[in-house]
Amino acid sequence: MKIFIDTANIDEIRQANDWGILDGVTTNPSLVAKEKDKGKDFKAIVKEICEIVHGDISAEVVATKYEDILHEGRILAKIHKNVVVKVPLTPDGLKAVKTLKAEGIRTNVTLCFSANQALLAAKAGAYIISPFIGRLDDAGHDGIELVEEIREIYDNYEFETKILVASIRNPVHVKQAAMIGADIATIPFKVIEQLYRHPLTDAGLKQFLDDWAKLGQQIK
Ligand code: E4P
Repeated sequence: MKIFIDTANIDEIRQANDWGILDGVTTNPSLVAKEKDKGKDFKAIVKEICEIVHGDISAEVVATKYEDILHEGRILAKIHKNVVVKVPLTPDGLKAVKTLKAEGIRTNVTLCFSANQALLAAKAGAYIISPFIGRLDDAGHDGIELVEEIREIYDNYEFETKILVASIRNPVHVKQAAMIGADIATIPFKVIEQLYRHPLTDAGLKQFLDDWAKLGQQIK
């Protein structure tokens, strides 16, 4: 399973990239709006991210009408070859996905909350589908169950659309996504940090170092 970071924060992206486990980045308008430098041009942010991480970088359109989605999608795709254009799961959005695919532009269909929506996105030719599991959990549904359903449907018909598990809230979501066979998980920085941690790792390391210190030796 590929690991993407779900942020528009350049410091977080640099740090996670340095850890050597990062395969890509997802952004959305809310994540961009959260950043301190609100005056910074969105295209410049996307370009900077593409220069740091050499993998798929999702950048979202804010248009909702077919022609306007195409217009914005073409602009975003020109920023860098690794840009994947994020498009909302609507009739206009999926129509744009089909046209953009014919032009060689890859899309990430976002705001997916049902298996049937994922089926339509695959038929339209989406490169990525993004089921939002945390938001489903928040609404009293089972987000991870949706990922299982999409995996089964895509495998039944050999759809090539990649399943990107989005709206991840905790390490359990990441493990469940990997066990189901999701292609990608996009994870907030804080949750990526949590993946490394285990109290027994910390306690075990402390014990090793304390015991070694008693020897008074160095590895030279
Ligand atoms: C990523 O592609 C999604 O936009 C993101 O994971 C949504 O996460 P949220 O539900 O925490 O806003």
